Amino acid sequence: MQVLETNLEPLTWTPRSWRQRPVSQQPRYEDAEALEANLRQLSRLPPLVVPEEVEDLRRNIADAVAGKRFMLQGGDCAEQFADCTPQAITDKLRILLQMSVVITHGGRRSVFQVGRIAGQYAKPRSKDTEEVNGRELPSYRGDLINAAEATEAARRPDPRRMVEAYFHASATLNHLRSLVVGGFADLHHPERWELPGSTRRVEAYRRILDRVRESIDFIDAIAGTKGTYLRTGECFTSHEALLLPYEESLTREGSGGGFQYNLGAHMLWVGERTRALNGAHIEYLRGIRNPIGVKLGPSVSGEEVRDLLAALDPQKEAGRLVLIPRLGVERVREALPGLIQAVQATGHPVLWSCDPMHGNGLVTARGLKTRDFDQILSELRQSMQIHRALGSDLGAVHFELTGQDVTECMGGSQQLSELDLHQAYETGCDPRLNQTQSLEMAFLIADMLGGAIQS
Ligand code: PEP
Ligand code: CO
Repeated sequence: MQVLETNLEPLTWTPRSWRQRPVSQQPRYEDAEALEANLRQLSRLPPLVVPEEVEDLRRNIADAVAGKRFMLQGGDCAEQFADCTPQAITDKLRILLQMSVVITHGGRRSVFQVGRIAGQYAKPRSKDTEEVNGRELPSYRGDLINAAEATEAARRPDPRRMVEAYFHASATLNHLRSLVVGGFADLHHPERWELPGSTRRVEAYRRILDRVRESIDFIDAIAGTKGTYLRTGECFTSHEALLLPYEESLTREGSGGGFQYNLGAHMLWVGERTRALNGAHIEYLRGIRNPIGVKLGPSVSGEEVRDLLAALDPQKEAGRLVLIPRLGVERVREALPGLIQAVQATGHPVLWSCDPMHGNGLVTARGLKTRDFDQILSELRQSMQIHRALGSDLGAVHFELTGQDVTECMGGSQQLSELDLHQAYETGCDPRLNQTQSLEMAFLIADMLGGAIQS
């Protein structure tokens, strides 16, 4: 961890003012000149998204705060450059769309998607080193920083990776946009997101698609035209704002209003390990206009949350903040009510999400990181009940998932057990729900939103 000059007087915000705060989870680059050269190149490259899209996401989030919409955020724990293939990108968009259709239909709340995609390349690590095949190596910090390969050389932070990450993000986003413009996300043609096989869930999903198609035909018939509003199945992008020099270089001033935007993604979040109130990450995030997610682990206090809200959302604007507790199935019942009440007392109009993944990590006897479907579901269900009991609303969910048939999390209708996990364990970091488990989760969320919460 690199700690720079500490000055806790309030700073005048600039895209670089974070450099005057203590900063955690940053790599140490050996070649300062190479670092500067790569950052200069990044700052000259075109933005990946535009301010109008960021504003659009803010409006969507504000609608979710008002209970009119629901936000589905999901994707890989760590995207890898090697996953930048048309198939992997299409699979990710497809699973988000499939889940959205199921949740919108059963939950009666229109869903918008925010992918952990096109930039989710940096990982916070609890330790600077890790043991791989009996060798102690510097930790893998995500493709933005070093390579996963188990050698000293691969694990050395390389600043050229920031420019490479930008181009991989840009190719990913370009393909996502082409899919959307080309009609892949068009609700007139949900058959493009058909599922193979014939399990109970697949049959239920097909019936929903039929119903969606009928409703759309009906609306089109009344309107006398094909509804163009149904064509914009846009997918917003998000990643953890971890590597601050990279984020700084993608910060640009918007035209007109004078706001500063991070144009490397629509939404950014701050992780549980980097959300210190006086730390560099909060200093950076407080000055940009993008919607900000804040991860909240079980040790966070109501007071800390209150201070974070004041720092990040002084104007109390709906659309600005998404709070993402990741408390774990054992802690949610004791920890969540106090957080909700603390936020209610402040009057900040936040969107409440739930990340039922990161508090529920398990390690198998063989040393694989996994998570259990029922624990994930239980944390989510309890969260929804707690919000309802306190007159609050859970308007978003946050998952690590993939559209591919991996075997990383246990449980679900395929009843994956510890012994099945080695079959297709491919994640670059944490275990993800696979396509079947994700779709099944969507049905359960739809039931919960539709009113049928069982404990
Ligand atoms: C993550 O979202 O991948 C992550 C590391 O989360 P957290 O900061 O909540 O641990
Ligand atoms: Co993760």
